[in-house]
Amino acid sequence: MIEETLVLIKPDAVRKKHIGDIIKIYETNDLEITAMRMLTMTKELAAKHYVEHLDCPYYSDLEGFMTSGPIVAMILKGEDAIKRVREINGKTNPKDAAEGTIRKLYAENGSRNAVHASDSPENAKREINIFFGE
Ligand code: CDP
Ligand code: MG
Repeated sequence: MIEETLVLIKPDAVRKKHIGDIIKIYETNDLEITAMRMLTMTKELAAKHYVEHLDCPYYSDLEGFMTSGPIVAMILKGEDAIKRVREINGKTNPKDAAEGTIRKLYAENGSRNAVHASDSPENAKREINIFFGE
């Protein structure tokens, strides 16, 4: 099924000038960018996006990191995009991520891990709405 998913290139990867490298990987995998913007997240936006993580012990670090500099938000569209983009990104911690995945290539650690992607159709819809409106 053709799906849309929300991807964020996180502040660590933007700082290290990996925007182009990361976009190249998605496009090479036959994913189409249908919307894109650069922004710096506020604490309010971080809390909305990461609502499922608000009570986690790492949330204050995550909030500090995600608001520390510009990010790139984009909608990627393609066959089975939600699952496929998470596979292309790799496991949360680069130590566990497969060779060739974006996190294996560019993540610093399990927190500063280069990219975000939606994990379900419901969250894709919710997250796309946060960054791009209805
Ligand atoms: O991003 P992903 O869906 O792979 O992982 P998650 O478990 O949904 O966690 C969301 C984000 O929180 C991660 O990508 C990390 O940036 C951060 N995190 C963290 O800093 N420390 C952890 N122990 C777990 C997650
Ligand atoms: Mg997640």
